[in-house]
Amino acid sequence: MADKKVIAVVGSTGSQGSGLANAILDDPSGGFAARAVTRDPSKDKAKALAAKGAEVVKADLDDVESLKKAFAGAYGVYGVTNFWEHFSGEKEKQQAKNIAEAAKAAGVKHVIWSTLEDTRTLMKPDDKRMPMLQGKYRVPHFDAKAEANAYFSGLPVTYLVTSFYWDNLYLFGLAPKKGDDGAYSWTFPMGTAKLPGIAAEDIGKVAYSIFKAGQPYIGKTVGIAGESLSFDEMSQKLSKGLGISPVKFNAVDADVFRGFGFPGADEYGNMFQTYRDFEKEVNGARSIDQTRQLNPQLQSFDQWLAKNKSKVAAETQPAPAAKA
Ligand SMILES: NC(=O)c1ccc[n+]([C@@H]2O[C@H](COP(=O)([O-])OP(=O)(O)OC[C@H]3O[C@@H](n4cnc5c(N)ncnc54)[C@H](OP(=O)(O)O)[C@@H]3O)[C@@H](O)[C@H]2O)c1
Repeated sequence: MADKKVIAVVGSTGSQGSGLANAILDDPSGGFAARAVTRDPSKDKAKALAAKGAEVVKADLDDVESLKKAFAGAYGVYGVTNFWEHFSGEKEKQQAKNIAEAAKAAGVKHVIWSTLEDTRTLMKPDDKRMPMLQGKYRVPHFDAKAEANAYFSGLPVTYLVTSFYWDNLYLFGLAPKKGDDGAYSWTFPMGTAKLPGIAAEDIGKVAYSIFKAGQPYIGKTVGIAGESLSFDEMSQKLSKGLGISPVKFNAVDADVFRGFGFPGADEYGNMFQTYRDFEKEVNGARSIDQTRQLNPQLQSFDQWLAKNKSKVAAETQPAPAAKA
């Protein structure tokens, strides 16, 4: 243990970080050790990591001093922020700044910053196709992460541009839902565009591979995805994989979607519209081949679905209250 390179994993109890922590723990002879960072070491997910052999440390992204302690003596840091906990681009940037500052103070040899592209570069400032949000962003959780890239300059950093997790189908309830007519439907402003997606756990596996490779990835941007599929293609795969039919995709207008009014509808609307209107650019920013080189076990949508079938199937059923 003592001679292993310690990776301090922010978000260790979440989708990205747990994938990395488990990849490290599942490779005991790989030369790395997992230090799981969480605000609450007593939570079940933190305890499960400890039981597998992770060192669990308490720190908060809002408290830079706690991060400095959590990163002390580490070889590497995996940095991720959770926009969806507060929906604020400014807060996300401050948390990223804290990660960068603490990584600098700890003198780590390799940081992976989980980022996304700046969607504002794809549209002129006066482009009216979608609203500006929070005063300055098109897609706040993309643009704020991209702005935060600057905090990491001067550090030995790899910028990891992630993709839409297919796990959103059960984590965020995005799966097609069964209607009164027995058909399953889902609605997004995506038209026929192909969405680069990934099994969330594969992000961590890729990150582990980047830490293992080290130097060649310092200063590099790596865009990752498992497969790029249209919603019609995913509908067919869901129909076959779950044995449900028909699965109908409604390619709604982005303004209509933003008007649905659920928390984050405008943010999601702008995000899907960006994926639709700039299909070539967002797919071009991610390489499935490179992702597979980094993670030879990279899952396709079908493989991911087979593994998560029961969780996705449960999400296709209407909520009990809606049935009554
Ligand atoms: N869903 C997608 O399709 C997708 C795609 C690309 C990028 N992303 C980005 O992924 C990010 C979220 O990552 P995820 O999905 O891995 O997260 P997640 O599964 O929702 O879990 C959130 C993680 O962040 C940690 N965390 C949150 N606030 C913290 C704080 N103040 N201090 C310390 N730790 C904190 C939590 O740790 P504790 O609760 O244990 O402290 C937890 O481990 C978002 O910013 C999102 O934009 C998502």
